Amino acid sequence: MNPFYIGTNLKMNMTAAQTVEYISLLAQYCADLPLGEAKLFVIPSFTAISDCARQPLEGKILLGAQNMCWEDSGEFTGEISPVMLREFGVDIVEIAHSERRSKFSESDEYANLKVLAALRHGMKALLCVGENKSQKDIGISDEILSIQLKAGLKNVADFDTGNIIIAYEPAWAIGSAGETADCVYTKSRLMTIRSALLELFGSDGREIPIIFGGSVNERNACAYIEEGGYDGLFVGRAAWDAERFNRLIRQVLPVWKSGGRRRS
Ligand code: PGA
Repeated sequence: MNPFYIGTNLKMNMTAAQTVEYISLLAQYCADLPLGEAKLFVIPSFTAISDCARQPLEGKILLGAQNMCWEDSGEFTGEISPVMLREFGVDIVEIAHSERRSKFSESDEYANLKVLAALRHGMKALLCVGENKSQKDIGISDEILSIQLKAGLKNVADFDTGNIIIAYEPAWAIGSAGETADCVYTKSRLMTIRSALLELFGSDGREIPIIFGGSVNERNACAYIEEGGYDGLFVGRAAWDAERFNRLIRQVLPVWKSGGRRRS
């Protein structure tokens, strides 16, 4: 069984002080959770990472970064390197979120360099893939996903697949203007993603967790696990209140543990 990942990207929200308050509260709420194979993660802004790293998170919450340069150091003004993230014990690097792709023109080629850099430094690479609305409308979602995966995971060694997580996040489902994605639709995309991973890595591709994100909330979360077959959830707005996120996690965990395990 693949591990179950549930986490949130705080995007460009919360000051460092607010993030510390949020993550400390979340750690308290989750203190009694029997997480086991389930991994909980929070991805704050860069400016909050060092303060978060000092919090007693009881090993319950993995810490992520929203982006990263592919080089260790050098003439890259404004960038943050993998070495700098490792200094604070960052576990997961989010790569090529749809907002990075659409608002900052991040390409699959750069996503690939970042994936390889994260792996080189012993961090998990959380590669985000997803089609936009016009790609969905003209029926090329599967082609887009295959391209993003094959280009983004180029040259990843089979022995590194244990440090890859894929987040399927259809761009049209993300954010306040996003539409809720239908479970049947997302299940088909999951199959496409799994096929691409099997093509790339053979049977090792089956072990790579695929999580779903895009307008996930307490009304639809369980369905993406139970009917959709996903290995976890990547939650935005519905997770930014610690109490609400705690409720969502408690709702989803039993579903995953009891049979929402029909994996692709
Ligand atoms: P949302 O964000 O849940 O607010 O739609 C999801 C994401 O961007 O990962």
